[in-house]
Amino acid sequence: MGKKRILITGGCGFIGSLVVQNLLATSHEIFVIDDLSSGDRLAIPETLVNLKICDIRSKAAKEYIKEFAPHFVIHLAAQIDVQVSLEQQQLDADINIMGTLNVIEACKEIANFERFVFASSAAVYGNNTELPLMEDALPMPISPYGMSKWIGEQYLKLNDEMEDFPYCVLRFANVYGQKEAGAKDVISDFLEKVRNNESPVIYGDGEQTRDFVYVADIAEALILALNVRENGVYNISTGEQTSINDVLLVMSNVLQVVVVPENRSHRVGDVRDSRLSNTKFQKVTGWCPQYTLAKGLKQMHLENQRQKMILVK
Ligand SMILES: NC(=O)c1ccc[n+]([C@@H]2O[C@H](COP(=O)([O-])OP(=O)(O)OC[C@H]3O[C@@H](n4cnc5c(N)ncnc54)[C@H](O)[C@@H]3O)[C@@H](O)[C@H]2O)c1
Repeated sequence: MGKKRILITGGCGFIGSLVVQNLLATSHEIFVIDDLSSGDRLAIPETLVNLKICDIRSKAAKEYIKEFAPHFVIHLAAQIDVQVSLEQQQLDADINIMGTLNVIEACKEIANFERFVFASSAAVYGNNTELPLMEDALPMPISPYGMSKWIGEQYLKLNDEMEDFPYCVLRFANVYGQKEAGAKDVISDFLEKVRNNESPVIYGDGEQTRDFVYVADIAEALILALNVRENGVYNISTGEQTSINDVLLVMSNVLQVVVVPENRSHRVGDVRDSRLSNTKFQKVTGWCPQYTLAKGLKQMHLENQRQKMILVK
């Protein structure tokens, strides 16, 4: 791929900032839109990236996209907190559906537009229990967040059917990695608790399972998705099922500490088991997750140690 213009919405966030860092090692021109509602402007090098601080729902964002005329968009900006989506359904829908539509509409006005990569989620599958979940499994969202992501996907499909809009949807399993701000994933939450000598909270018996995928693997998949020729939906996952109890075991081994959890009653609405097949994306791109849970946890631990040393200096 020659030099292209690439826009990353939500580029100051957890996943977006890593995508930006990886793309900066290429010759592409990088632009970011972020309203900094949960992202950090210092997460990306200001001098190397054109950052527009605005809301994806705004007219300013639409104008900016048309002016910059990217060949590719990696659309990550979103309301990502399931709890917030339950409490503020309209806000969630406004950002995740109307905001996504605003970006799609701007892209449709770009003459040489090549592909829209959309960050979706396993939350779309919700209560579907046919494991491993394949991309054609029936969506059964159990939260407004899962619903708003699914509707975002549907708008892409519809625009493709109506006007040949090139898109690629990536449904991420449970992403984990060193996260400084915003809603924490279960793994960074556990790590923080352990470091602070607090007990991680397990809801239910801890035998519920998830498919944990490390953020570096997600960032690589998002960049590979730019080259996917066939429009459609692709799961990004490890294809492995790990129980919450096993997460704590691996964490104890990596950190060399004894972790004693606090057990609370099962949370209504929590899915029991989750595992996503990743063979479709692997076949198309050759992508393969590089991080086992132990490797990902070691990496997070190292990053945390490094940050602490910087603070001490
Ligand atoms: N982290 C996960 O486990 C996970 C799992 C599945 C899907 N996803 C999806 O991946 C994407 C990135 O998630 P993340 O974990 O990096 O989240 P994040 O909150 O760290 O990043 C989102 C970024 O978008 C920005 N943003 C939010 N609302 C905005 C708006 N209205 N206008 C402009 N910018 C806005 C935030 O400031 C932030 O920088 C999201 O679309 C999320 O739904 C994440």
